[in-house]
Amino acid sequence: MTDARNIVLTGFMGTGKSTIGRLLAARLDRPFIDMDAVLTEQFGKPIPEIFAEAGEATFRVAEAQLCARLAEQEGLVISTGGGALVNPQNRAALAATGVLLCLTAGVDEILRRLDGLQDRPLLNGGAGGAGLERSRRIRDLLHERRHAYAAIPLQVETTGRDPEAVVDAILDALAANHEAPGMQRIGVTHPQGAYDICIGEGLLEHTGRLLLARGLHAGPVALVSNAQIADAHAPRLEASLRAAGFTPCLCLVPSGEEHKTLATVANLYDQFLAAHLDRRATIIALGGGVVGDMAGFAAASYLRGVPFVQIPTSLLAMVDASVGGKTGVDLPQGKNLVGAFKQPEVVLIDTAVLATLPAAEFRSGMAEVVKHGIIDAPDLFAQLEESGPTTMAHMVADAVRVKVRVVEADPFEQGRRAVLNLGHTFGHALEQVSHYAIRHGEGVAIGMVAATQMAVAIGECAPELLSRLERMLARLGLPTRALGYDADAILAAMGHDKKRAGKMLRFVLPRAVGNVFVADSPGADVVRAAVNYILTAPDDEAHNG
Ligand SMILES: NC(=O)c1ccc[n+]([C@@H]2O[C@H](COP(=O)([O-])OP(=O)(O)OC[C@H]3O[C@@H](n4cnc5c(N)ncnc54)[C@H](O)[C@@H]3O)[C@@H](O)[C@H]2O)c1
Ligand SMILES: [Zn+2]
Repeated sequence: MTDARNIVLTGFMGTGKSTIGRLLAARLDRPFIDMDAVLTEQFGKPIPEIFAEAGEATFRVAEAQLCARLAEQEGLVISTGGGALVNPQNRAALAATGVLLCLTAGVDEILRRLDGLQDRPLLNGGAGGAGLERSRRIRDLLHERRHAYAAIPLQVETTGRDPEAVVDAILDALAANHEAPGMQRIGVTHPQGAYDICIGEGLLEHTGRLLLARGLHAGPVALVSNAQIADAHAPRLEASLRAAGFTPCLCLVPSGEEHKTLATVANLYDQFLAAHLDRRATIIALGGGVVGDMAGFAAASYLRGVPFVQIPTSLLAMVDASVGGKTGVDLPQGKNLVGAFKQPEVVLIDTAVLATLPAAEFRSGMAEVVKHGIIDAPDLFAQLEESGPTTMAHMVADAVRVKVRVVEADPFEQGRRAVLNLGHTFGHALEQVSHYAIRHGEGVAIGMVAATQMAVAIGECAPELLSRLERMLARLGLPTRALGYDADAILAAMGHDKKRAGKMLRFVLPRAVGNVFVADSPGADVVRAAVNYILTAPDDEAHNG
C-alpha cells in the first residue's frame, strides 16, 4: 500500500467506521475525516436534529457535496456515514480517487452494538422505541442497503475482532486489492505452512503475477485441464502465465468421474516427462474436482512431489474440493480410495469462469454452499434464504471460509472434518441406488433434508429449520425428496458408506443454523423414519402422520 489514493471506509451503522477509521489513519499516519462529524459541525447540530428540523433530503444533499469535495483530495482516510455510499453517485465520486472498503458485522452483532445508542435518526422513529420495533427497523434497513454495500468488492468482517485486529484485516485487504483489483485473500494455515485462497472476478488474467509473487519458478509449468474447460479458459490463463515468464504446457485429461483413475494419472506423468518438467515446475489444475483431485495427486507423486496450484472452475471445486489438500483417484472398488494430502501453493478462484459452467453443475454446487451455511455461516444461510447472495465472489468467499475453518482445525481428517459430511451419508446412498441419476449435489440436498428431519425427530432441532431448508433448496432448484426409490435399498447402501466409523452409522445433524453435531448410531427406527420422509411427497405427509 504505497499509493496516495484515499481509503474510504463505509458500512452499516454499528460496524465501527469512526473508531476503525481513526485507528487506521493513525497507523498509516494520514489525516482522518469522519463525514458525520464534519456534517454535524457544518449544520451546528447533531444528526437526529438535522433530520428532524431540516429533513433527511437536505442532509443527503450536503453529504453528496462533501463526498465530491473529499474526492478532490488525496491521502485521506475517510469514514462515511452509514447511508452515504448507498447513493451510486457518491460511491462513484469517492471510488474515482480512493479505495472503498466496507466494514461488515452479523445482524445480531449489530443489534448488540447499537443497543442503547440513541443518536441514529433512522432507527428512532415511532413512539416508545420498543426493542423489537428497533430490531425490526435495523433488519429492514440492512436488507434495503445490502446490495449497495455488497457492490463494494472489499469487505472486512468486524464480528469477533477487536479494533486493532480489524485494522490489520483492512491493511491485508488493501494489500490483496493492490495485488489484483477487487481480489479477496483468505489465508489458510496447515501443519507444513500456509497458503492463500485468492478470490475475484477476472483473476485468471493476473495468474502469472500472482504465482511469481508466491515464489514459483518462472519456467515450464503443466496446465492440467480437460478439453471443454481448456477451450473456454486456457487461452487467457496461458497469456497471463507467458507474460510473467512461465512456459505453460497444456496437459489434457478426459472429462468425467469415470476417468479419475490411476491410468489417467499415469498418462499425466507421461505428458509431464515429455514436456521435460523438472522438480521446480509447478503443476496447475484448471478444472472441477475431478481435474483438481487428479492433478493434485500427480503433483504429490511426480518426482516425489512438485509445487501445485489449484484453479477450480466448478462451484463445487471452488467451495469444497480445492481447499484442504485432499487429492486422489478412484479404484474399481470405490471412490477416492488412493490419494495423498497435497497442499497447494495458492488457490486462485476466478468467479467469472462460472459463466460457462452448465446450470445443473452450478445447482449441484449450491447444495455444498447451503451445507457450509448450515455448518458455520448463519449470515450466508440468511442471504440464501432472502433475495439470494449479494455477489458471486462474496458468496464463494463466505462458503470457502467455512471449509477453511474446518480443515485448519482438522488438517488430517481425524475429527472436525466429519461435519463436512452433512447430508452426505444419505446423499451417497441416493447417488448409488439411483445409479448416479441423482447427482452429487442433489443427493446432498435431499440428504440434508433427511438429516434435519432426523434432528427434529430426536428433539435436537426446531421443526422450523426443516421447512426453512426445504423452501430454500426448492428456491435454488434443488430437490428435497427422492420419490420412487426403495427404503431398504437406500438403507443397505448406507451400510456400505466408506465414511461410517467402524460398524456404526454416523450422521452429521443440525441443531440450528451454524451449529451441527455428529450423532453415532441414532437408532434404526430413527434412520428409517428419515429415509421414509424423503421418499414421501411433501403433500402426503399430513395424511401419513
Ligand atoms: N478433494 C476434496 O476434498 C474433494 C471434495 C469434494 C469433492 N471432491 C471430488 O470432486 C469431484 C467432483 O467435482 P465437480 O463437481 O467439480 O465435478 P467435475 O470435475 O466432473 O466437473 C463437473 C463437470 O463440469 C465441467 N466443468 C467444470 N468447470 C467448468 C466450467 N467453468 N465451464 C464449463 N464446464 C466446466 C467439467 O468438465 C465436468 O464435465 C469428485 O470426484 C469428488 O470426489 C474432492
Ligand atoms: Zn459433497
